[in-house]
Amino acid sequence: MLFRNWVLGPVLAAGLAGSAPAQPTLKDAFGDAFRVGAAINAAQFEERDARGDAIIKAQFNTISPENVLKWASVHPRPDGFDFSAADRYVEFGERNHMFIVGHTLVWHNQTPRWVFEDGKGAPLDREALLRRMRDHIHTVVGRYKGRIGGWDVVNEALNEDGTMRVTPWMKIIGEDYIAKAFEFAHEADPQAELYYNEYALEKEAKRKGAIALIRKLKAEGVPVAAVGLQEHDRLDWPSAADIDATISALAALGVKVNITELDIDVLPRAPRQRGAGEALSAEARNRLNPYTTGLPDAVQQELTKRYGELSAVFLKHPGTITRVTFWGVTDADSWLNNWPVRGRSNYPLLFDRNGIPKPAFEAVFAAASTR
Ligand code: GLA
Repeated sequence: MLFRNWVLGPVLAAGLAGSAPAQPTLKDAFGDAFRVGAAINAAQFEERDARGDAIIKAQFNTISPENVLKWASVHPRPDGFDFSAADRYVEFGERNHMFIVGHTLVWHNQTPRWVFEDGKGAPLDREALLRRMRDHIHTVVGRYKGRIGGWDVVNEALNEDGTMRVTPWMKIIGEDYIAKAFEFAHEADPQAELYYNEYALEKEAKRKGAIALIRKLKAEGVPVAAVGLQEHDRLDWPSAADIDATISALAALGVKVNITELDIDVLPRAPRQRGAGEALSAEARNRLNPYTTGLPDAVQQELTKRYGELSAVFLKHPGTITRVTFWGVTDADSWLNNWPVRGRSNYPLLFDRNGIPKPAFEAVFAAASTR
């Protein structure tokens, strides 16, 4: 179709010439509605991925760090921070005039065990863990003060039933660890936007829990600027109506909403595979990894329709949604190739393994262009 050539032209040209295309791209198409971005990896912010970098520079005006600002990366030892990769991430964003997101300060994953223990391996008490949390947040947020525009302060604090997840943070500090984390981040950079980031708030019980949590934080004067909806979605879940209702319910609390980790898993549901050593039987591998040679047309069409539908939902909330970030650039980068099962071929993003925009890209672009 004609439209395809018009869209593909600039993207390919950007890939070849390494410069910004003359014609509109996603960031232009969504322009005044919200920022559009991607989570990027080290090869991309170190400019070793020419194909990925051309797409990032042409298409996006905000970036998130896939891993380098998580506790385990930036603060691997009690006595040592390592900002080498994080500095390059932030410099990449500045060179390209992007809104730079920080992710994530307080989480239960990718956080070393020593964080919660004293030098002898005994659990820290509340005051000691609060001091450690404050030191981490002040050091990391403080380093990028005025440069990182917004932080995922707390990630995934809720259970599926809406109750507080019993993480070491919760066990040792208690419920107010969330308010404390926001307080410390605000002290460290009063201008930065501060976010609570979560998944599956489309589930009613979890949404209710999140609403109660955000309402309480707001009532206490905690500076929550936005709730991040991760949107690690599937072709058939969650429904567009439930995403729409979730965005509206959060907006009613007086916070903005960011779509922070968007991707769409097209593979069969699989039980979480724990160790890398766990080999799948040949039968299970074929069943769980059916598209090793390419995505069948019918599934490609479903993915395209699904991306169009989600874009339409986001565009219904221009005053509320301030950012839509994809969790990766091309299908080759996606964590979904290795989770929950290692070594599958997934197709969750807008650009294929060769960096070519997929029909799903056109659907997103078309939704943005018909506003
Ligand atoms: C969560 C985290 C992200 C990332 C994804 C999977 O959603 O917020 O940082 O780890 O899981 O990659």
